[in-house]
Amino acid sequence: MAPKCDIPDALITALRDARLVCILTGAGVSAESGVPTFRDAQEGLWAQYEPQDLATPEAFLADPALIWRWYRWRRQLVAGAEPNAGHLAIAELAKIVPQLTLITQNVDSLHQRAGSTGVIEFHGNLFDDRCFAEGTLTSGDDSLDVPTCPDCGGNLRPGVVWFGEAIPAAALDESCAAASDCDVFLSVGTSSLVYPAAGLADLARDNGATVVEINPLPTTHAADFDFTIAGNSGVVLPELIDSLAL
Ligand code: APR
Repeated sequence: MAPKCDIPDALITALRDARLVCILTGAGVSAESGVPTFRDAQEGLWAQYEPQDLATPEAFLADPALIWRWYRWRRQLVAGAEPNAGHLAIAELAKIVPQLTLITQNVDSLHQRAGSTGVIEFHGNLFDDRCFAEGTLTSGDDSLDVPTCPDCGGNLRPGVVWFGEAIPAAALDESCAAASDCDVFLSVGTSSLVYPAAGLADLARDNGATVVEINPLPTTHAADFDFTIAGNSGVVLPELIDSLAL
């Protein structure tokens, strides 16, 4: 059967020779599961809502009930979604290469549900809650109204990283270490616009890794990658696994 997309031989060779593969994923990887991306022109969340009105600590302080309801809607949407062939291929790749580090900007747990382990959640997780005042993590509460912290009685907020907030220190350290040490870095389904995640490919390149972009629409950084494969991750990644098996 003819390949659905062209995987360069040199990339397959680089993956076969790799000691450590590092993958950064973004919302595009979950698009084929029906989870909206953020910046897709029509359907993207930020095409419909202003990020600063919904994804900042200031917005939560201004109207916690509105923010809570919006994130509850996203939880229900994601809970109804299934991992797609792209998520499954990444879990499969981890069994093929000697070592794989998966860093995701996604907060949807779909990588974990596809069987990936040790996933670095760079922007937190939608199904966790945090005390807004103390930052302590609690398991997700599904109530309609904003739940309160069992310790201080203050509001709980979704366990995701909002604009203007720092990346969890351990996630940042582990991600920078893996990007600096890897032989091949795959940037999959991300617009590469949000830092510091978008800087990880630069770190990998500066440390000698082969850097690859997989995205149906080449990003503004496309020219900085050794390989750019224009396609949906649910098509390209299974094809990459098949090519590795040949
Ligand atoms: N397969 C691969 N890539 C895809 C697919 C697909 N099926 N469909 C869309 N894409 C690509 C788009 O072309 C786009 O470049 O996925 C990218 C999604 O980009 P964004 O919506 O900007 O999402 P992301 O890069 O993950 O955003 C980064 O911004 O809003 C914040 O915290 C949020 O983690 C998020 C961060």
